[in-house]
Formats: sequence, C-alpha cells, structure tokens
Amino acid sequence: MDENKITKLTEKVKSRLLKIDRKGIPELVEYMTEKGFFTSPASTKYHGNYDGGLLTHCTKFYNLLKKMHEMFNLPFDQDSMLICVYGHDLCKMGAYYKINAGGGSYYKWNGDHPKGHSILSIKILEKFIKLTELEKNLITYHMGMYGTKECSDWSGEYNILKLADMFSKEKLCKLFYFCDDMSSNFLEE
Ligand SMILES: [Fe+2]
Ligand SMILES: [Fe+2]
Repeated sequence: MDENKITKLTEKVKSRLLKIDRKGIPELVEYMTEKGFFTSPASTKYHGNYDGGLLTHCTKFYNLLKKMHEMFNLPFDQDSMLICVYGHDLCKMGAYYKINAGGGSYYKWNGDHPKGHSILSIKILEKFIKLTELEKNLITYHMGMYGTKECSDWSGEYNILKLADMFSKEKLCKLFYFCDDMSSNFLEE
C-alpha cells in the first residue's frame, strides 16, 4: 500500500481508537505507533504481506464484523469491537523485517520475536487496558482450529471440543473468527 494511503488510514483508525472510553487507550495507541502497528505487514507470504497490511487487514475485518453484527442483530459494544479487532493481532507488531532486493521488497519473520499469537496479543493489550471476559474469549479463539496448535504449548484448555463449545455458547466468538478468516482470505487486494 502506498505511503499516502497508509497515512490516511492510520489517521482515521487512530481517531476511532482514541474515542474509546477506557483507561489506558492513549498509551496503547502510542505503543502501537511506536511498535509499527500502522505500517507492519500482516504476514510474510499470506494475507497483507505488504506495508500497512496489518492495518488494512484489521480495517477490513472491522468493516465486515460491523456489517455482520448488524445483519444478525447481535449485541456488540462499539468500543469492544474496536479493541478486539485492532488488538487481535498485536502479536504481529515487530514480528517481521523488510528486505529490499531486485527493485522490490519482501518481508521475513524476525526470529527474535516472542512466540505466540492470540495470547501474546492479549498480554500486550493487558499492559495498557483491562479486557472483559468476552473480549479475552474473542481474541483467544479468533484462530479457530489453528489456535489449538498454537495454544497446545501453554494450555491443555484449548482443544477442539472446547473450541466447539465456545462457538456454540458464545455466537460472537464464532462470528469474530469467521470475519477474521474471511477478511484474510476473501477480501485481500
Ligand atoms: Fe490472528
Ligand atoms: Fe487477523
């Protein structure tokens, strides 16, 4: 994504985030800026593997979730939606480095970056703001079945049955997972 687009989208998203009424938000947004959230890719070779890819992914995810949430008339607090969507992949900040080669560029995984995905994102968020149980569940289970692999190292709690249970008990978790997945796989530029 070109620099102008990134700057415009960054301003828009920052102003949305800074309106969230929760202690610690300005500090969180500052940290996200420092750590490169607004310019980072979302992956090295899959979705959003370009400058601003993470920001773009989260914005597409946010727009889709908002539409679906309205369509199904599900309860979802606006502030909560913003926190979960823009926070669910914070683990990716600083996870990649750029290599310029052959007139182009690509990203590589930074081997020194701490391991973890959902839980790492929650840990980063919780340094600044307090999360509700629902928000923690939305972020924890956003990887769906892939999360069982990631989380097997830290907890026996996350397994396929627990996931199925959570999805049937908490419809928003299922919707959150689907919207993340769909925005990664079907809404890429
Ligand atoms: Fe993710
Ligand atoms: Fe994601």
